[in-house]
Amino acid sequence: MTRTETSSDSVSIDRNAPITAWTPTLDLKQIKTSPDDFGLMTYDPAFMNTASCRSTITYIDGDKGILEYRGYPIEQLAESSNYLETAYLIIFGELPTKTQLANWSSDITAHCLLHENIKKLMDGYQYDAHPMGVFLSTVGAFSTFYPDAKQIFDEQSRKKQVHRLIAKVPTIAAYAFRHSIGRPYVYPDDDLSFTGNFLNMLFKRTELKYKVNPVLEKALDVLFILHADHEQNCSTSAMRTIGSSHVDPYSAMAGAAAALYGPLHGGANEAVLRMLQEIGTIDNIPARLMGFGHRVYKSYDPRAKIIKKTADAVFDVTGKNPLLDIALELERIALEDDYFISRKLYPNVDFYSGLIYQAMGFPVTMFPVLFAIPRTSGWIAQWEEMLLDPDQKITRPRQVYVGKKRRDYLPLNKRG
Ligand code: CMC
Repeated sequence: MTRTETSSDSVSIDRNAPITAWTPTLDLKQIKTSPDDFGLMTYDPAFMNTASCRSTITYIDGDKGILEYRGYPIEQLAESSNYLETAYLIIFGELPTKTQLANWSSDITAHCLLHENIKKLMDGYQYDAHPMGVFLSTVGAFSTFYPDAKQIFDEQSRKKQVHRLIAKVPTIAAYAFRHSIGRPYVYPDDDLSFTGNFLNMLFKRTELKYKVNPVLEKALDVLFILHADHEQNCSTSAMRTIGSSHVDPYSAMAGAAAALYGPLHGGANEAVLRMLQEIGTIDNIPARLMGFGHRVYKSYDPRAKIIKKTADAVFDVTGKNPLLDIALELERIALEDDYFISRKLYPNVDFYSGLIYQAMGFPVTMFPVLFAIPRTSGWIAQWEEMLLDPDQKITRPRQVYVGKKRRDYLPLNKRG
């Protein structure tokens, strides 16, 4: 690793960090036209070329299509790990030992239940309320149920909120789903795995014990692993930015979930499905293909490759999603098209995930919620890293003011 060295360089540098060159932009202020000049400032809308932190969580090489959590390749984790273990890795930095995993699993199981008043909150929503709206507002409401979460610099308190958040998000999501289809809420089943229990809370009917299909359970684990973290994306930046004001993690995460809801981010999987349903014929292909392109990946998104394999396993159980043929044809056309080739636009994680979710029985409105459940581990890990990073302060970007020059107030009767 190299770094542009400067006179005020006092930050300790991890020589293994996968960064090629960077400089603290505050040092640019030293470049002045005169002593009272403000100094040089960078202008970088949408942070196209500005690092906001140094992080040890997720590594992406967008040109080579590499994604690693704490150094472990996503392909190996998807093959051999499960979501709960990966969440532990992302949050605590290492794969758990047998004992650590057993304790982690039982801590999560112990926190799955929601306060009964959450049901009343849910009942207040319209029958057709979007589950993502219900999800993000319920996460925000948690800050009123757990005021101890304000102790953000108390390690034990933070750990408790981590357990609560990881454990409760599937229950919130399942309640939001059951509310939308008018079915009674299902309580968690401690005998089941994290993803098995989630399927139980979603799809259990009148049977005494829900029988989890192991192929669907594994597929959900893989999808959750793929979505667990993705470094400084829009929602994670929102989590860090809101968290930098030292608010509790539930309030910060409500904001992160809101950022995820947008169709350019986590809402893309829902938008892809709607697009595939509307396309019908090749003449109808829209200018902006949802599920294509990425700020960082300029080659095939490694997550999309894994998802394509998972789709085959799921369709063997559920039957093929009829939209798959349209998706494959669309991908073929796009990958041969000059517009997409010259802009390096490839399918991203959301292009195929919705097809699997739909085949598993989820309505499209649940897709962003299914993204938010695993991303919770990434948000929490990034939030904690930000809080403990001595370089960080409250986020406060500069602006370049281009409005009116100072002028005097005109009384109403003097305005034209
Ligand atoms: N279809 C057609 N053209 C596109 C697309 C697309 N999906 N994405 C980007 N372009 C074009 C864009 O118009 C621009 O063209 P030009 O240079 O002629 O102006 C060029 O490609 C560069 O795009 P950009 O908008 O500058 O790229 P960005 O980094 O700002 O945006 C993106 C990244 C993901 C928002 C964008 O590719 C997009 O809108 N994709 C569709 C939505 C989507 O699938 N989002 C999910 C992202 S992956 C899951 C997640 O982590 O959220």
